[in-house]
Amino acid sequence: MLSEKMTEALNEQANRELYSSYLYLSMSAYFESINMKGLASWMRVQAGEELVHTMKMYDYVISSGGRARMLAVEEPRFAWGSPLEAFQQVWDHERAVTGLIKALAGVAEAEKDQATRSFLQWYIDEQVEEEESSDMVLNKVKAAGQNEAALQAVDRELGQRKFKFPRGFNMFPYGGTP
Ligand SMILES: [Fe+2]
Ligand SMILES: [Fe+2]
Repeated sequence: MLSEKMTEALNEQANRELYSSYLYLSMSAYFESINMKGLASWMRVQAGEELVHTMKMYDYVISSGGRARMLAVEEPRFAWGSPLEAFQQVWDHERAVTGLIKALAGVAEAEKDQATRSFLQWYIDEQVEEEESSDMVLNKVKAAGQNEAALQAVDRELGQRKFKFPRGFNMFPYGGTP
């Protein structure tokens, strides 16, 4: 059973994960608007992953006897000056999220909630990957600079990314086939 404080902290983090999804979806729409389909696709996969982060936390709250609460989702930025500016924000955002996840793990420790602390290890490991991939894409976009052909090559390369559900995660536990 989750404490009230733990439930509240998990609901807040689920909300930030949903905001992350919203932010990356906004970036995907921005890339569509400047006709960079590969970057739009990469961002859409990223938005999908953040939705999975949201739902995994939502499911955990419910399965642990807590009450999931849908807090208001902040409106993300609408436009960026360049792909570089957008990917710089991804980099900054992922580092900020790592800080939030660490603070959440700190709440679990303070609450002596070992089950939640153990659940959060997946997010801590996931953030290591998120930081690595945001470093990787930022470096690629930086290296392309203002060179249009190089940017098109990055667009094609990042467009190859495919969405995959994490092992053991079921987006539709009540049933149904995609
Ligand atoms: Fe996330
Ligand atoms: Fe993320």
